[in-house]
Amino acid sequence: MRKNIVAGNWKMNNELSQTETLISDLKKQTKTSNAEVMIAPTFTNLWHALEATRDHDIEVIAQNMHFADSGAYTGEVSAAMLKSIGVQTVILGHSERRAYFNETDELLAKKVDAALKNGIRSIFCFGEELADRKSNKHEHVVESQIKNALFHLDANAFQNIILAYEPVWAIGTGETASPEQAQDMHAFIRKTLADKYGHDLAESVSILYGGSVKPDNAKEIFSKPDVDGGLIGGASLKAADFYAIVNAF
Ligand code: 13P
Repeated sequence: MRKNIVAGNWKMNNELSQTETLISDLKKQTKTSNAEVMIAPTFTNLWHALEATRDHDIEVIAQNMHFADSGAYTGEVSAAMLKSIGVQTVILGHSERRAYFNETDELLAKKVDAALKNGIRSIFCFGEELADRKSNKHEHVVESQIKNALFHLDANAFQNIILAYEPVWAIGTGETASPEQAQDMHAFIRKTLADKYGHDLAESVSILYGGSVKPDNAKEIFSKPDVDGGLIGGASLKAADFYAIVNAF
């Protein structure tokens, strides 16, 4: 059975004191759904967040990592370093990393390999731009992002891969994909996986939707059969909004 997951991607927000406050607020919320809850603070606040959630079922995850274990890569953080402080999951391939930091499918394949080698689970992100959707190339774009970065993996590796479909035009814009658009794409992603790895594997992989998920639209999006949760940006910065989304299952 695949899991329902709601992960908050804090992006480059929240200094230490704000992180302390938000985590304390999150811990006061009540969870009424079966979703796994994750938060992704910035690197400087990971240790604090891990310590502050030791007595709670919120999982603290990272927003990025380098593919090498160590070495002359000024400013970077490795999978081994994340592992050493207790991080078990990392977001890879977010469209902001692809767009602003030139992360390519080829680079992301190496990052996914490094995460797997270190026993870290990846939330692998991908999604089309508005022009791709307008020219009806969205499925083709998504298919190649998945194939290029993941299809060298063997089937076992997918126990440690979570997929996150985030159409670029829906991120931070307030314009969410309709529940039908999300379902159509998620079904297509699952079929792409099934064609390569078989039906059972495709059914076992969680596929999250991201892009302007809010308390008032989460329930409808999560009600779709192939949507297994959400990757939440803006609405994850307010504890009550985030848990309203967590509890939308
Ligand atoms: P918003 O929820 O702010 O649109 O961001 C989505 C996102 O990029 C999550 O990774």
